[in-house]
Amino acid sequence: INHLTPKTRREILELLVNGLKRLEYRGYDSAGVAVDSADQKDIAVVKRSGKVAALEELLQERSIELSVEECVDSHCGIAHTRWATHGEPSAVNSHPQRSGEDNAFVVIHNGIITNYKEVKTFLENKGYIFESQTDTEAIAKLIHHIYNQHKESSFQELVEQVIQQLEGAFALCFKSRYFPNECVATRRGSPLLVGIKTPRRLSSNHVPIMYTNNKATRGVVPPVPRVNSHAHFEPEEERDVEYFFASDASAVIEHTNRVLYFEDDDVAHIKDGVLSIHRMSGSSNDPHEREIFTLKLELQQIMKGNYEYFMQKEIFEQPESIVNTMRGRLNFANGTVTLGGIKDYIPEIKRCRRLMLIGCGTSYHSAVATRQLLEELTELPVMVELASDFLDRNTPVFRDDVCFFISQSGETADTLMALRYCKRHGALIVGITNTVGSSICRESHCGVHINAGPEIGVASTKAYTSQFVSLVMFALVISEDRISLQKRRADIIEGLHELDSKIRQVLALDEEVKALAQDLYRQRSLLIMGRGYNFATCLEGALKVKELTYMHSEGIMAGELKHGPLALIDDSMPVMMIVMRDPVYIKCMNALQQVTARQGRPIVVCEEGDTETMALASQSLQVPKTVDCLQGVLTVIPMQLLAYHIAVLRDCNVDCPRNLAKSVTVE
Ligand code: G6P
Repeated sequence: INHLTPKTRREILELLVNGLKRLEYRGYDSAGVAVDSADQKDIAVVKRSGKVAALEELLQERSIELSVEECVDSHCGIAHTRWATHGEPSAVNSHPQRSGEDNAFVVIHNGIITNYKEVKTFLENKGYIFESQTDTEAIAKLIHHIYNQHKESSFQELVEQVIQQLEGAFALCFKSRYFPNECVATRRGSPLLVGIKTPRRLSSNHVPIMYTNNKATRGVVPPVPRVNSHAHFEPEEERDVEYFFASDASAVIEHTNRVLYFEDDDVAHIKDGVLSIHRMSGSSNDPHEREIFTLKLELQQIMKGNYEYFMQKEIFEQPESIVNTMRGRLNFANGTVTLGGIKDYIPEIKRCRRLMLIGCGTSYHSAVATRQLLEELTELPVMVELASDFLDRNTPVFRDDVCFFISQSGETADTLMALRYCKRHGALIVGITNTVGSSICRESHCGVHINAGPEIGVASTKAYTSQFVSLVMFALVISEDRISLQKRRADIIEGLHELDSKIRQVLALDEEVKALAQDLYRQRSLLIMGRGYNFATCLEGALKVKELTYMHSEGIMAGELKHGPLALIDDSMPVMMIVMRDPVYIKCMNALQQVTARQGRPIVVCEEGDTETMALASQSLQVPKTVDCLQGVLTVIPMQLLAYHIAVLRDCNVDCPRNLAKSVTVE
C-alpha cells in the first residue's frame, strides 16, 4: 500500500474482502484473511466457512482486536476464497493455512498439490502436527521447516526451496512473521498476476520491478546472483505504488487496469515497496522481463474472460478441466492410474456382484456414455439408472453391490435419496462429484472428485466430460492387472493423453457450428441419432438443446429408428446423426441410408476426412478420431456449442434457462 497516503487497517481489510467478493462468482465455499496484528509483531488470521459475507461479519465482530482505526504506512495482507478440493469446507480447512500457533508462516493456495501426502509424512516425522485436511497446510509447514534450517535465507529464497519440492498445480502467496511487510507469490500451472497501481504523476512505464535470475537446480539452493536489475526509482516513488497479487484480474480491476501475468516458476517478492521477479530455471531463453498489460475490459467481462456467458466459458475450458481431472492420477509415462479416494476399496469393488451407476440429467448421461467400457474392462454387470426411476421401482440392492452416485453439485435430492436407499441395503457407496464437502461426498464410503472447477452455467458441460474421464479412469484402475487387456488399456491411456489437444481441435469448429445454428434456430424440433459409444452424446445433445433453447429435441438410439422414429422423417425434419468409424459404423450407415431414403437431410457428425459418410450428409461436422470409447468426449462438444448458439440466436437466457436450477435439492 501507499506510503504517502497511509490507510487505516479497516480500509486494508475492506480492500481484501472486496477482492474476494469479485472472485466469489466462482461459487466458493469458505474464506479467510491474514494481516499484521495490531502490534505488528504477529499475524492475525481470520477465517470462516461460508460466503465472503460471513467472513466480513466475523471481521466486524473482531474489529476492536484488529485495531481497525489504526493507520499504517505500508502493509501486506493476503486473502483467499476457497473451493474445496481436499477436505470439506470448514474454518480449519480454509486458507490462509499456517505453520506454528504464532502463524510464523501463512500461505494461500489455488490449485492442487499432488505429492502433499509425501510432504506431509516427511514433516510429521519431523514433529509437525497438522490441523487441517488440506494439501495446502503441507506448504505452510514445509516453508517453516526450511526456514528453521536456513535462517539466513531471504523470504524469496525460502519460497524457491519450497516449490522445488512441490508437484501439482499452484498459485501461492506467502506472508511471514519473520518477514514483516514482505510478501512472496509464485505459480506453476495455476494463474497468477499482479495488478500495479502507480500514482498518476508517475509515467506508465515507471514501475519499480526488479528482475533477477539464478540457475537453481531441483533440490539445491545456491546463492542468488542478482542480474539484470531494472530498479531505478526514487525511494518515495517506489513506496507510492500498490501491488495486488491475484489469480484473476476481476479481483484487481477496480484498483488498476495495469497487470503483469506471471509465468510458471516466477517467484515474485515485494519488499520495501519494490516488486522483484525472480526466475527459477535460469534458462537463457527465459525472458528476463515481463510485459505490463493495460486491460481495457470491464469487471463483468473479466469474470467471464472474453466469453459472453459462463456456459460458453465452461465449454471452452474443457481442454484444461479434463487435464485437471487426470492430474496426479494418470501417469502417462508408465501407464498407471491411481484414484486416491477409492484406493482402499479396490479389492472389495473387484469382488462385487455388479456396478450400479446412478444420477440425474447430464450426470446420468455420463454413466450411459461409459457403461460399455466399464462392462468391457471390469467384466462385471453394469446397471445405469436415473435416480428418480430407481427409487420408484424399489430396485433390489444387495450388500455386495457397488453403487456409484454421479452428481456435479453433490446435492441433487433424487440422487441423494437413492444413495441413502442403497446405503440402507448395505451396498458400497462411491461418490463421483465436483463439490468437495457436498452431501453426496460426505455420505459416500469413498469417491472420486472430478476436479472440473466451479461450474456456473445451469446447463452442465465441463462437468460432463470430467465425469466421463473419471469413470474411464475407474475402469482403467479395475483392469490394471488383466494381462489380456493391457493393449486396450494402453490405447485408452494414450487417447486420454491426447484428449486435450483433440478437444481444442473440436472447439475450433465453433464458427462452423454457429453457421449451422443459423440454419436451425427457427426450427421447432431437432432429432439427434446415434448408437454404441455415441448414444450418450445424442441424449446429452438433446438435453442441452431442450434446456437452453426451449426447442423440442430428442436423442434417438439409431437401432430403434425403424421401430418408430422413422415415421417422423421427411424433407423438413431437422436430423443430426453421429457416425463414427467404430464397431457400429456399418449399422450407423444403414440408419443414415434409411433416413436419406425418406428424403431426410441429415447433418452428420463424423470423423475427419470420412468422405464416404459425408457423401450421404446434407452438411457435416468433422471431429478428430480418438479411441472409440473416448470419442463421446469429442462428439458431445459440437452439441454443446450448437445448443449454445441456438440459444443465443433465440435470445434465451443461456446461463439461467427458465424453470431450471443448477442444484435441484427437492425430490
Ligand atoms: C439439474 C441441472 C442439470 C444437472 C442435473 C443433475 O437438473 O439443471 O444440469 O445435470 O440437475 O445435477 P447434479 O448436480 O446432480 O449433477
